[in-house]
Amino acid sequence: MDATTRIEKALDAALERAEVPECPPKLAAAIRYAVQPGGARIRPRLCLAVAAACGDDHPALTDAAASAIEILHCASLVHDDLPCFDDAELRRGKPSVHKAFGEAQAVLVGDALIVMAFETLARGAALVPQRLPGLVMTIARSTGAPTGIIAGQAWESEPNIHLSNYHKAKTGSLFAAATISGALAAGADPDRWRLLGERLGEAYQVADDIHDLMSNAEDIGKPSGQDAIHNRPSATAELGFGGAVDRLQLLLSEAVQSIPQCPGAQELRGIIIAASKAFVPKGIAQRAA
Ligand code: IPE
Ligand code: IPE
Ligand code: MG
Ligand code: MG
Repeated sequence: MDATTRIEKALDAALERAEVPECPPKLAAAIRYAVQPGGARIRPRLCLAVAAACGDDHPALTDAAASAIEILHCASLVHDDLPCFDDAELRRGKPSVHKAFGEAQAVLVGDALIVMAFETLARGAALVPQRLPGLVMTIARSTGAPTGIIAGQAWESEPNIHLSNYHKAKTGSLFAAATISGALAAGADPDRWRLLGERLGEAYQVADDIHDLMSNAEDIGKPSGQDAIHNRPSATAELGFGGAVDRLQLLLSEAVQSIPQCPGAQELRGIIIAASKAFVPKGIAQRAA
């Protein structure tokens, strides 16, 4: 089964568990709306790719970890778009969840997805329960305080923000969870995979900042120009366009260089270079490689 099929199947199974007569119908519909159709699905693909490089001896656990991470990512987008954060009306080319279902549902959808992620993970570990605590710890830390996505969003309410720490928390943390969880799900040493996720995640956010400045809403399926409107620290505001591109290039080459020696390393390098081509402005990925 290819990676896309594995990811979509695992996500669908998680969503179906909420689609029962006992669940308030609007909540069930809004939960599915937040997850499908998806966007880049880059975090679960990264998780699967690392697990494959490490042997992937328990694919059901890998699928559970990958889908849990994507579910958390979807939750973070629902909350990020709320009026109290970025007040964004468009996500993945359609009205954001609070625009389509109202603010109260959007808060609940984000909350329900966070819980669903951990339920999904626990269910996937039935055959290898000894691997569950490490996965729960990794994924929980990437989500909450002190350094997960929630902390990343919270930096926006502070008077002094360090750009790299902000990017590491709001985006790098979940990418690191993706690489580390891929290794953990396959029973491999997780520490060797942290740097890859951290660098790739930071690079991804720098690329997102460049798109926010350079792209239009039709191309990226979400409003652009938001960093300036909300006065957010961004790579382009802090480093200029050229500086942001240089930073992106550096982070990407550090990511590729950090891939540890393993039987699947060459293949993983290819997957990462291909994925970066999709998220970075043309030409930069090749130069980084
Ligand atoms: C958007 O992430 C938020 C960032 C951290 C840049 P993605 O660009 O991965 O969003 P989707 O899942 O493809 O919509
Ligand atoms: C989002 O950051 C990061 C999250 C953790 C949700 P942004 O606010 O820059 O992402 P977009 O541009 O809305 O996708
Ligand atoms: Mg935001
Ligand atoms: Mg936003």
